[in-house]
Amino acid sequence: MSSTNPKRITITAALPYTNGPVHIGHLAGVYVPADIYARYQRMVGKDVLFVCGSDEHGVPITLKAKKEGITPQQVVDKYHEIIKKSFSEFGISFDNYSRTSAKIHHETASEFFKKLHEDGKFTEQITEQLYDEEAGQFLADRFVVGTCPKCGYDESYGDQCENCGTSHNATDLINPKSAISGSKPVTKKTKHWFLPLDQYESWLKEWIVKGHKKDWKTNVYGQCKSWIDDGLRPRAVTRDLDWGIPVPAEGGEGKVLYVWFDAPIGYISSTREWAEREGKDWEPYWKDKDTKLLHFIGKDNIVFHCIIFPSMLKAEGSYILPDNVPANEFLNLEGNKISTSKNWAVWLHEYLQEFPGQQDVLRYVLTANAPESKDNDFTWADFQARNNNELVAIFGNFVNRVVVLTNKYYDGHVPKRGEFTQVDIDTLKELKAAPDVIASSIERYRFREAQGKLIDVARLGNKYLADEEPWKTIKTDEERTQTIMYVALQIASALSVLCEPFLPHTADRLKGILRFALNDTSWKDISEKEELLPGGHQIGPSELLFSKIEDEQIQEQLDKLEASKKANEIMNASAEPQKETITFEDFTKLDMRVGTIISAEKMPKTKKLLVLKVDTGIDTRTIVSGIAESFSAEEVVGKRVTVLVNLAPRPLRGVDSEGMILMTETPDGKLVFVNPDDDVPNGASIS
Ligand code: MF3
Ligand code: ZN
Repeated sequence: MSSTNPKRITITAALPYTNGPVHIGHLAGVYVPADIYARYQRMVGKDVLFVCGSDEHGVPITLKAKKEGITPQQVVDKYHEIIKKSFSEFGISFDNYSRTSAKIHHETASEFFKKLHEDGKFTEQITEQLYDEEAGQFLADRFVVGTCPKCGYDESYGDQCENCGTSHNATDLINPKSAISGSKPVTKKTKHWFLPLDQYESWLKEWIVKGHKKDWKTNVYGQCKSWIDDGLRPRAVTRDLDWGIPVPAEGGEGKVLYVWFDAPIGYISSTREWAEREGKDWEPYWKDKDTKLLHFIGKDNIVFHCIIFPSMLKAEGSYILPDNVPANEFLNLEGNKISTSKNWAVWLHEYLQEFPGQQDVLRYVLTANAPESKDNDFTWADFQARNNNELVAIFGNFVNRVVVLTNKYYDGHVPKRGEFTQVDIDTLKELKAAPDVIASSIERYRFREAQGKLIDVARLGNKYLADEEPWKTIKTDEERTQTIMYVALQIASALSVLCEPFLPHTADRLKGILRFALNDTSWKDISEKEELLPGGHQIGPSELLFSKIEDEQIQEQLDKLEASKKANEIMNASAEPQKETITFEDFTKLDMRVGTIISAEKMPKTKKLLVLKVDTGIDTRTIVSGIAESFSAEEVVGKRVTVLVNLAPRPLRGVDSEGMILMTETPDGKLVFVNPDDDVPNGASIS
């Protein structure tokens, strides 16, 4: 079992599905924490391998292709490029970002399957699977929705319920419905290969429940324990689909590997791809007992990374098992669940365009709000507040004061220090303790706590300056001022190192301003070195690290979300069922004309009614209309409308209404006129 001081660390981040771009939920849950961890471990000198890649198989991708009328390959090509580019611009420091459509992955996954097959680790079963007769296709996974047998949620997918997290077989669903045609599936016999998880139950119990896995996060450990306690069943690792890795076994024609079988092997193929490129040996990163293997994932992936993939690795026999699986909960957006299909998200590639050069602000906010132990909410107001009140007002402000004063007093040179006072000694002592304090939180996967400790270092600097007031001592005590600025510069340079895992772009810029460079494994130097910036060292001119985010920018983002909400309401509004059939003669009885409202006034003592005078082309007549809750009298004057003119007149509150104005309604209940094009004259009839 790997020790707390392993020789190597293999870090994996869940392969994102390539059916859409990456959003802040993915970032907060998986990629930002994984990146903080990887960067930190590199800085303390560990041999780190951080791999990821695009998950390009599976049903969501084929569904997306169907919807857009393109091929699955076109879907994955498009999103792979967007995702890869946005990760790199955002500063996620993968050593390799691969994709599961790559040749090396097809080979690796095929070999893995063949090895288990040859070693007799699978069972083969002919079972009844759901089949869509209309689409002529077997239904598995996301091709089928129905009621979850465990929690009763009625939109559970065939392989997993998003409500309770249970993973099941499509045939377990109650009232299944095809996601392709909407029809009720039949069952049809087909052969599949199964991983007999039941045979791994006692081993898993030993490894997770009785083993040392009690140091896993409670959410992760709890989910694992409950699955094991419920009893494990064999899981099919093949599917009747045409998109995926062909099953490399006799009788496997027309079948592919289940996406959750091939995708985690993607971590291994990404490692192999990296090793080939770098001229290294991949195997120690997956097989040496002195390697610590970590999977960063979101909570919906727990069963696959803690139960299924480890069982696969165990079955293969030559692999190490994960030391930890620090899964996060979910991030919501402005109070609602993030959704790719509903476009309720902040997309990384869009953020990078709309907030150029501000990668670290998003990293900072996502870590400050990371859903580490419960679901959390991202709001734009909080994003703005954290930037303005923390990054600008604490971190940026401290650094800026130090750099500006050093330039002003000493022409950019770090002054020689005099005697330290007790305050100086205490401040430097606290500074030298910071790397261990931050590290201890990172090592325990508490990234928000770690980042909080980082900001405390900037706070320490601000307090030091505020208490020692170099801008006052400069007038009275030359030597004391030099010492104060010397100490402050040590804090600023330490910050440039300590912030790197969290704010890598800021670290680079701050090092540039300070003209400060350490070797690659710099974390410990802060505690161990006598000084970071020696007297006489020259720094550069000041430059703002962070800038205030204005209300307008935030409003733009909120407007964008509001537009998504509207678009969804319109798309999802279900139309009323059609009325009873009428004959053409019935229709011709209706006399509808184009008209113009020429005057309007509120009907006294009513909420809803407006009394309108309408030019119908035939005459000018009075129509009483129940639209006063949607329109004021002033705003309807001049409106072009459609009028049913031969409706029998009826009295409303003592006024005879001689016709009806045609209206329709938006999904949120606002009335709108059915109005003809402007060129049509009043009196034109509608037929
Ligand atoms: N694509 C999956 C998701 O987004 C994650 C796959 S992780 C891997 O939920 F282990 F399979 F690679
Ligand atoms: Zn459920």
